[in-house]
Amino acid sequence: MIKDLQQQILALKKERDICILAHSYMSEEVCEVADFVGDSYALSVKAKTAPQSTVIMCGVRFMAETVKMLSPEKKVILASPDAGCPMAEQFDKDVIKEVKKMYPDYAVVAYVNTTAELKTVADVCVTSSSAVKICRALPEKNILFIPDINLGTYVKNQVPEKNFKLLSGGCPTHARIEKDDVLAAKAAHPNALFLVHPECRPEVVELADFVGSTSGIMDYAEKSDGEEFIIGTENSIVQHLQYKCREKKFYPLSKNLVCHNMRLTTLPDVLNCVLGRGGEEIVLDEKLRLQAVKCIEKMIELGG
Ligand code: 13P
Ligand code: SF4
Repeated sequence: MIKDLQQQILALKKERDICILAHSYMSEEVCEVADFVGDSYALSVKAKTAPQSTVIMCGVRFMAETVKMLSPEKKVILASPDAGCPMAEQFDKDVIKEVKKMYPDYAVVAYVNTTAELKTVADVCVTSSSAVKICRALPEKNILFIPDINLGTYVKNQVPEKNFKLLSGGCPTHARIEKDDVLAAKAAHPNALFLVHPECRPEVVELADFVGSTSGIMDYAEKSDGEEFIIGTENSIVQHLQYKCREKKFYPLSKNLVCHNMRLTTLPDVLNCVLGRGGEEIVLDEKLRLQAVKCIEKMIELGG
């Protein structure tokens, strides 16, 4: 059944000049039909260069908007229209404009997990894998980092030569994890290395052997000589790693590390999209797009 659906998707996407992009949190069966699977940074770069005329994004809304901003000539479909990222909606443009008045000499650095509208007031975007590099490379010494306080704190600690102002947004999935969850997982698996996403709280990140994006965590685990790993990000990554590295052992940090938005996209959704009868086509006002894309292009220029 799964194989049949996958065969149909693979044949149709070729016939109809469609590129399927999947975030690393997608299920194994969706990843298998994708042209490219990666973290938010790698997906942004791929979005710019994919030769196909249509892109189906299997992920959340801000990722599909990023593709549309970078490739306005392409038809961009969000495979599951209900898949949003709660962090992306936490602040609106007018709030940030007011905060900017208080810190006029600060560069606004926006996590890519933001709406297109919010990106119009940012100087540069970052992802979890590019944030440290980009904040270091910026000419400005003062940085207003929005919206994730946990990623912001991690970057601030890695870039002590700059001044940071942080807002109190964040990812509800990663922020749910507490230090006691880490202590319990380490007690249960004393030989395991602990790999964590920087969207987790600072007291959780502090206990990690490695901090990185979804792809960063996967690369580290695949290349490491370690045999056991506690995974401090969405639990789909535990499944992917266990599938890829059968001889190693992977443990979820907590059963609560589940992003329901990232779980919404199913293989039948992808089939409906390639058949042209599902998903949502992303439409952006051209003036908004031109303003918002600047900070993504700057991210790609500084992050490459
Ligand atoms: P990555 O940039 O690590 O893929 O993160 C995206 C995300 O939404 C993590 O919660
Ligand atoms: Fe957004 Fe968190 Fe889900 Fe990532 S895991 S999409 S940041 S809610």
